[in-house]
Amino acid sequence: MSEAATPEIVVAADLAALVEATAARIRQVAAAAIAARGRFRVALAGGSTPRALYPALADGVDWARTQVFFGDERAVAPDDTQSNYRMARETLLDRAAVPATAVHRWHAEAADLDAAARDYERTLRAGAQPPWLDLALLGLGPDGHTASLFPGTSALAETSRLAVAVDVPALGGRRLTLTYPALLGAGAVFFLVAGGGKAAALADVLHPTSTLPAARIVHGAAPVSIFCDRAAARDITSPS
Ligand code: 6PG
Repeated sequence: MSEAATPEIVVAADLAALVEATAARIRQVAAAAIAARGRFRVALAGGSTPRALYPALADGVDWARTQVFFGDERAVAPDDTQSNYRMARETLLDRAAVPATAVHRWHAEAADLDAAARDYERTLRAGAQPPWLDLALLGLGPDGHTASLFPGTSALAETSRLAVAVDVPALGGRRLTLTYPALLGAGAVFFLVAGGGKAAALADVLHPTSTLPAARIVHGAAPVSIFCDRAAARDITSPS
């Protein structure tokens, strides 16, 4: 495996500046992917921080040449208020008129979530070759989770499948998530981290010895950029 690079850290003054900086970089990555390969394959993240970003992406991305995936999904119907797909549809996909055929949601309403995960992997792999994603957008939880790679769960041990269903006792339910092989194989990974509540987790994952789930991506083979606000950057002590 290629040597892990040091993650880029972009600290913005506040959430509005964080959104602006992240959106500008996403537009650049999209344009470069389309120029190089004729299409842009992106995995969107769930959560309130990514949610704040999405309206800014309605402009400046060639959505007609973009394939949209999701880094994870809750085990709910697509019209459920908890659905990451619904959140992205309302904040971005409908506004940008992204063709439905270009939006690949997890069938998270299925009774058999393991089959849904296998189906999603087939979708991710279809007509493509590594890197399966040009860009993976990720959030960071206070416990150091990202996507639905939560501490102490079986998904952390997955070394070959790109997508799995996973029991998350901390949430009292199941989730669907891309795995380390999928995320570490992305052309680029952008973390979005805002608020003082994330400061401890962000400082932790930046240390090479961190055992938090997001750390394996921060220090992994994919190029990582961490876009954060000052509050989230509060505990970052030195360049790492
Ligand atoms: C989800 C995401 C999850 C999220 C982080 C950060 O489905 O919620 O996959 O990983 O990105 O928990 O969420 P916040 O930005 O809301 O703190």
